[in-house]
Amino acid sequence: MTKSNPPNAKQILRTVQGQLECDQLLGARWLPIGPLSDLPQEDLRMNTPLDDPIIKQKRQQLDAIAQQVQKCTGCPLHQSRNHGVPGEGNPNARLVFIGEAPGAEEDAQGHPFVGRAGKLLTNIIQAMGLTREQVFIGNILKCRPPDNRDPSPTEIAACSDYLYQQLEIIEPEIIVTLGAYAARTLLDTKDPIGRLRGRIHQYFPHPLAEPIKLVATYHPAYLLRNYTHDARKRVWEDMQMVLRELGLPIPQKNK
Ligand code: URA
Repeated sequence: MTKSNPPNAKQILRTVQGQLECDQLLGARWLPIGPLSDLPQEDLRMNTPLDDPIIKQKRQQLDAIAQQVQKCTGCPLHQSRNHGVPGEGNPNARLVFIGEAPGAEEDAQGHPFVGRAGKLLTNIIQAMGLTREQVFIGNILKCRPPDNRDPSPTEIAACSDYLYQQLEIIEPEIIVTLGAYAARTLLDTKDPIGRLRGRIHQYFPHPLAEPIKLVATYHPAYLLRNYTHDARKRVWEDMQMVLRELGLPIPQKNK
């Protein structure tokens, strides 16, 4: 008997889909799911097995950066940090979210976006039909500015190389920047977020590299402070744009 690897989620989904399509051909009138076309599209990178050699290598490279972050003394923020927060998620993610800097919860736990704004970001990711594990979540600054003040230009200059390296390793198809600092840093602009959102920009990992698409949207902390229908609608429009660019289905949102 030949030993075969256990099926991954995508193979299981394909098998179930095939069975359901077969049932439909055989005259089934009702199926315990939505229309078959609602099933996730081919989505190789988000479902690549974690023991894939390329992913293993990317994970090792990201882990090496995470270790450097924990020891970094490149700016005075290391003096007050409890944990550096390098970022986390799928090393081969097609989609990366970049925020500003860790807050109190993130500094205490060492994980990005785990406080109130983080819960909202998790809800947004889930509303897109995705999970936190499928994407990568990071920040411009890896250490918490005291009292959550805005990052200073020297802190950004000292820290942003970690992010540039992470993006070169992950090679995402789309970067979503959350708030003004992330968008302005990656796009090298001073434009306000209201002018940057709602369209696709290009981020160049280095001058000769293929550009990566970038969508700028509001920071979840801003959304929490301005929890209006209008602000939420704009963020959802931005996320629909992202899903379209990735060729992923747009889940119907409950009103
Ligand atoms: N806000 C951010 O910008 N990043 C975090 O990780 C948490 C809150």
